Amino acid sequence: MATTKLSLLNSIRDFSKTHQRVPHLLVSSTGFCCKSISSSQGHGGSSPLVVLTNAFKEGEIVVSDGAEIENLETTPSSSKHVLVIGGTGGVGQLVAASLLSKKIRSRLLVRDPPKAKSLFGEQDEEILEIWKGDTRNPDDLVPEIFEGVTHVICCTGTTAFPSKRWEGDNSPERVDWEGVRNLVSVLPPTLKRFVLVSSVGVTKCNELPWSIMNLFGVLKFKKMGEDFVCNSGVPFTIIRAGRLTDGPYTSYDLNTLLKATAGQRRAVLLGQGDKLTGEVSRLVVAEACIQALDIKCTEGQIYEINSVEGDGPGKDSKCWSELFGAVQTQ
Ligand SMILES: NC(=O)c1ccc[n+]([C@@H]2O[C@H](COP(=O)([O-])OP(=O)(O)OC[C@H]3O[C@@H](n4cnc5c(N)ncnc54)[C@H](OP(=O)(O)O)[C@@H]3O)[C@@H](O)[C@H]2O)c1
Repeated sequence: MATTKLSLLNSIRDFSKTHQRVPHLLVSSTGFCCKSISSSQGHGGSSPLVVLTNAFKEGEIVVSDGAEIENLETTPSSSKHVLVIGGTGGVGQLVAASLLSKKIRSRLLVRDPPKAKSLFGEQDEEILEIWKGDTRNPDDLVPEIFEGVTHVICCTGTTAFPSKRWEGDNSPERVDWEGVRNLVSVLPPTLKRFVLVSSVGVTKCNELPWSIMNLFGVLKFKKMGEDFVCNSGVPFTIIRAGRLTDGPYTSYDLNTLLKATAGQRRAVLLGQGDKLTGEVSRLVVAEACIQALDIKCTEGQIYEINSVEGDGPGKDSKCWSELFGAVQTQ
């Protein structure tokens, strides 16, 4: 089988595999449950979603090439063209890989195209395009970037504390505030959804322990970015992640040093009102972003997300829909 190496992409296979282990229970923060009957609702055994070698070997996975990636989920989503900002980062890589595996057209806006190319290999430009751009620089955000784009997922970020990744003035203020503001300011009016990955704790940045995380303003600037999105008139969904677990570990900050492992952290907890404080698998965050694009009730909403041990919704849109719907009725 021809294979394409995707460096630093992690464990999509495990996520899909979990999903195929049916039936399973999903438990949300409300204790809400739903049964997933995934193999009859999307990708059955005869249509492999992705074929990956060993997951959770940090730093590398192998995914089958485009010709091998056939699944039923692509059909209803085929009209989507998703712009991913931060596609070379931890969550962003997983978003991009998942879109690729579903054959959803995507365009990555990255600061370092060779890095993106080495991550994703040679791909058909009809499916995956790589464009160069830095959100701090309004001149980079030319209208052509948004041509044909129907949805945007923004996974940009930098470290909470000064690090090498702040070099060149890439601080939270510049990325999480100014970058998000610059991006949102030029989104086309035709856009169907803008999904922003943010953080739990942004409304509590003056309270312990959040005030420690916020020593250099990361939560404050993320909240400013969020507020700009909410007031922009753009149809949005904000996903506030808990502390991110599982690879790839591209964020060299305190969180990374702790390096919590995902294990089987697949069950999803969603909340609203900035009350959740736990951890979340990057895979789960990536999938939540993709699923939110199509779930009507997520428009104009802000969710916190954690994941805990247990089977989760995987890529099952119906289960995600129920999870998102349930949290709003609390
Ligand atoms: N770490 C945690 O525990 C935690 C908790 C809650 C929320 N979050 C947030 O969740 C999000 C995703 O986290 P992650 O760990 O996946 O992030 P990450 O690995 O640090 O990736 C960040 C991405 O943003 C890109 N980026 C940075 N500055 C940019 C700029 N000026 N213009 C364009 N792209 C830029 C990076 O590109 P390069 O590859 O060029 O650097 C990279 O692709 C971030 O917003 C993060 O702050 C993290």
